[in-house]
Amino acid sequence: MARLVEATDEAVADAARRLRSGQVVAFPTETVYGLGADTFNPSALETVYRLKGRPPDNPLIAHVDSTDQAQHVVGQWDDRCERLVARFWPGPLTLVLPKIDRVPAQATAGRETIGVRAPAHPVAMALLARFGGPISAPSANRSGHLSPTTAAHVAEAFADEPDLIVLDGGRCELGLESTVLDVTTPSGPARLLRPGSVSVEDLREVLGEIDCSTVGPSPPGYAPSTPAELVGADDLDERLRQGTDQFVVICFDPARVPSPHQTIAMPSSAQAYAARLYESLREADAAGAGRIIIEEPPRSDGLWATIRDRLRRATGCQ
Ligand code: TXA
Ligand code: MG
Repeated sequence: MARLVEATDEAVADAARRLRSGQVVAFPTETVYGLGADTFNPSALETVYRLKGRPPDNPLIAHVDSTDQAQHVVGQWDDRCERLVARFWPGPLTLVLPKIDRVPAQATAGRETIGVRAPAHPVAMALLARFGGPISAPSANRSGHLSPTTAAHVAEAFADEPDLIVLDGGRCELGLESTVLDVTTPSGPARLLRPGSVSVEDLREVLGEIDCSTVGPSPPGYAPSTPAELVGADDLDERLRQGTDQFVVICFDPARVPSPHQTIAMPSSAQAYAARLYESLREADAAGAGRIIIEEPPRSDGLWATIRDRLRRATGCQ
């Protein structure tokens, strides 16, 4: 079993030493837990891909503690980047920019660009400060599985890796992966690659135009193992009357759901919903029902748009 350790100063210092010696460590961020390695150590990066079972063409995000450190890995930094980081860093915004030659190919899956973000979590920040360099980290799940929002999720995923330590920083506050924005295009608009907690409206306030036609198709990993279906609030009663299967229903008001179906109640605020979403999908998976029915949220602006994006990914509708 991967080893859970409380994120004391000592544990963070030990994790930094491990990173320096080429090992991989799992750590909390405000979005989801990450599986980190030294951005400049190709064999440590290869270990990340091997542990995750990650396709070799899927690039990693480099976590940095400052704009200064970001500029040690990227080869372009314009006024748009300045304005974005002034508003959103540290926080859940990843900027994709051209990389410098010194960044090894393993950090970017062979691409000439690199994603960078400064996480807003005290443990991630302390680890970056102790380590003193960028840490490349994908979400700390096995490829094809949901992102972890607690240290226990990470330990379960890496049950057969006794050498992996997981810094336990509690439950991730935001619970959904960062917004990924491609700012490589100096003249055209920045391009949204993955929605996140920084909403398109937030980005437009800073940059004006954002190209949203570039949101990538969902790689495996955003869906539970049980088939899941998104149903509009108005159609829910009807859908639950159909068929004889037992469902597990992720909804706002469990009182609406007749037996024998099981229910998982969701909060009505977007922030609280986002923070609960992956955990609720894990619970739904564990419930052993034949199908997960998810009630569609009523709104689709701001953070709800990102939640809808993840619900579409979870249910295979893109
Ligand atoms: O919130 C997060 O972003 C979390 C925490 C740990 O920081 N990390 C995370 O990493 O979600 P991962 O590897 O699961 O997802 C990173 C996403 C992928 O969709 C990847 O394709 C995209 O960012 N990405 C990273 N570098 C890129 C690049 N150079 N060009 C285009 N997309 C990139
Ligand atoms: Mg991931």
